Amino acid sequence: MSAPIIGVEHLVKRYGSASAVEDISFTVAGGDFFGFLGPNGAGKTTTMRILATLLRPTSGSVRVAGFDIERRPQDVRRTIGFAMQEISLDNLASGYENLQLLGVLYGLSPRQARARAGELLELVGLSQVAHRWVNQYSGGMRRRLDLAGTLMHRPRILFLDEPTQGLDPRARRTLWDALREFNREGTTIFLTTHYMEEADALCRTLAIIDHGQIVRQGTPADLKAGLGGDLVTLQFAPETGLEKVSGSIRELLEPEAALSVQDHQIRLTHSRAGAMLPRLIQRLSDLGAAPVALSIAQPTLEDVFVRLVGRSILEDDTALVTGRDPFVEGWR
Ligand SMILES: Nc1ncnc2c1ncn2[C@@H]1O[C@H](COP(=O)(O)OP(=O)(O)O)[C@@H](O)[C@H]1O
Ligand SMILES: [Mg+2]
Repeated sequence: MSAPIIGVEHLVKRYGSASAVEDISFTVAGGDFFGFLGPNGAGKTTTMRILATLLRPTSGSVRVAGFDIERRPQDVRRTIGFAMQEISLDNLASGYENLQLLGVLYGLSPRQARARAGELLELVGLSQVAHRWVNQYSGGMRRRLDLAGTLMHRPRILFLDEPTQGLDPRARRTLWDALREFNREGTTIFLTTHYMEEADALCRTLAIIDHGQIVRQGTPADLKAGLGGDLVTLQFAPETGLEKVSGSIRELLEPEAALSVQDHQIRLTHSRAGAMLPRLIQRLSDLGAAPVALSIAQPTLEDVFVRLVGRSILEDDTALVTGRDPFVEGWR
């Protein structure tokens, strides 16, 4: 990866006395697949709209592809693609015709527009239905066509706000493949999501945002490693004396490892639990304390999120459903 293509310094966005974005700074490297991960109301959309010149910041500085967003918004707009939540396709035209028209609007010659349309339909897996009217497309197909449209002018950066929200798992995976392909073609991708597994599957770099502030940045692997490695759970029969067992196991662990005893269970972390397992089993056998169940799990981004933010991202979904979200309340 190369020099930063996006640079954000001390960005603040206030609505009246409330701040949606509270002094955030970060960079995105050219060619990166960057994920902005956070619960509803965290400030993801606000940040992205500012970067895409659709919203003005209260203070701070933002450079996109070398251009200051406030001084050179037109140059920024020429450099980026932005996939909106509302899709604006002509239903009574084919996917191919929609793309071709967009290409001409973006200033391509009709011949360039036809070539690029064909290329992109292939990339998003819509070649087979290229000449069907868009009103026959499924939701997932429309989403992919819309994405292809944002790429007609070969933007260097693509902004995507919760692109797979509301798609079924299969449509989501097809879209993921298309996004990976765009990224391989050289497009820098800036994506917001509140789906942990989406961030994990797609993004090379992540920033976790909560209440308008960035709480952690890094690769998915770095963030998980920050939790101390694999999580091992040993379940014992009620009569096993776990005090002695846990003291003895502790000797096998790394100094920074976590170990807890609760409900006839010992839970511990290890950087490479698989490699330590034979010694662990041997030690338990020496102690005559065979576990009734044993599991090793790698921490997920969900675990990272809970550790950093102190609650599950899913709890926010519940909040939305029950109407406790202040933003939702505000619209009633
Ligand atoms: N136009 C607006 N007026 C007032 N408050 C807003 C407006 N847009 C967003 N907010 C508030 O800013 C915060 C961040 O919102 P948003 O960026 O949409 O979050 P996200 O995209 O992460 O769900 C929320 O608390 C939201 O209520
Ligand atoms: Mg949003």
